[in-house]
Amino acid sequence: MMQPEQHFPEAFQICQKFNISDENMNEIVHRLTKEINMGLARDTHPRAVVKCFITYVQDLPTGKERGKYLALDLGGTNFRVLLVSLNSETDIDIVSKAFVISKELMVGPGKNLFAFIAECLAMFCKEQKIEKDNLPLGFTFSFPLKQIGINKGIMITWTKGFNCDGVVGKNVVELLQDAINHRGDLKVRIVAILNDTTGTLMTCAFTNRNCRIGLIVGTGTNACYVEKTINTEMLDGYQTSNKPNMIVNCEMGAFGDNGVLDFVRTSYDKVVDKQSINPKRQTFEKCISGMYLGELVRQVVVELMQKGLLFKGLSSDAINEKWRFETRFISEIESDPPGTYRNASMIMDQMGIRTNNELDLACLRYICQTISTRSAKLTSCALVCLINKMNAKDCSVGIDGGVYRFHPHFHNLLMENMNRMLKGSVKFELVVSEDGSGRGAALIAAVCA
Ligand code: BGC
Repeated sequence: MMQPEQHFPEAFQICQKFNISDENMNEIVHRLTKEINMGLARDTHPRAVVKCFITYVQDLPTGKERGKYLALDLGGTNFRVLLVSLNSETDIDIVSKAFVISKELMVGPGKNLFAFIAECLAMFCKEQKIEKDNLPLGFTFSFPLKQIGINKGIMITWTKGFNCDGVVGKNVVELLQDAINHRGDLKVRIVAILNDTTGTLMTCAFTNRNCRIGLIVGTGTNACYVEKTINTEMLDGYQTSNKPNMIVNCEMGAFGDNGVLDFVRTSYDKVVDKQSINPKRQTFEKCISGMYLGELVRQVVVELMQKGLLFKGLSSDAINEKWRFETRFISEIESDPPGTYRNASMIMDQMGIRTNNELDLACLRYICQTISTRSAKLTSCALVCLINKMNAKDCSVGIDGGVYRFHPHFHNLLMENMNRMLKGSVKFELVVSEDGSGRGAALIAAVCA
């Protein structure tokens, strides 16, 4: 059994900096609660960092929704077009097609991006022979969006490697509708725009009536939850609304952008932030999500290599290349059975470092564990915060995203940390909610159409 402190003390020292004590976890919950309250309240919303956008989704599905809907999913690894048929509570038929958004489109003019989306949609609809059917469409747009209606939302800022000109400040539904109309070969009705977290919550709630939180831990991270309408001051007429609830999209990835997380951030976090395309933004997300975890691991590995303390005598261009170490490698490395290093050695080989040195590979795994454990701890803080905020005693959380789905221990880490923090006071369940962006969009379209 490897003892980090004894077997690789320098790595142990560095990794200690990523450890978050129980006391600090509670402090994070406390600070996040404060930020959420600022986002919800009308007088503090303009300067709030955690925006808590209202989604205009006030009804959870009943399980009785039926019909055929189109969905678009933009903001994860791939762009997808889906045709979702809600046949019965247990029979949902999905046909989908994924498209790669090229780097040029990700950081090019918004016009090109929306033209591409419309083109993919047209292609898909023609294949399915539904281009003239005028089907309702739900648009899952997983970026910060200030919604002013169920199918109207103003883009606030790009995240996750996107940065397209001419979109911030605009109504995204209109941009898409214009791109569709411009083609002239397609009839669809965009009835709703939503965040992936909202889609995930709706999808989970379709079969699980206790679901109150939607969480994504994928390329990016964020959560939404069911708030009392009376607390959503940004809704006109919130005091007199006849619907008791409102799903709130926290846009939690931005937590810490005002410095309130600096007490747990490390110098490595600061480097990753600096070299990202959105420095000083999405602080929480950069400690948690798939876009960044691999790079954090790489930073630590490279430092140890430069000091001659890891993979001695070996080097490669790949390991020295920013962003080259992918987050899925962390999941793969941590999936090696205890005491074995097959994936680890294969991945390092792929990174140009050929070695079977078990001490080095054990150290690498320890670094991976450190980074993923911190991600899970921070995510647990967010979930505990929302559960407490709702004062829920029995609550399911719908979760999607590659980090949660592919990491071998993420679920257990969440359970363990949440149980410790909640001290048995709340019954909760974490449910994987696959394809929330697609199904959820259809469900919202069904609830709203
Ligand atoms: C976006 C959120 C989204 C999350 C997960 C973040 O970068 O700002 O809107 O829900 O990623 O995809």
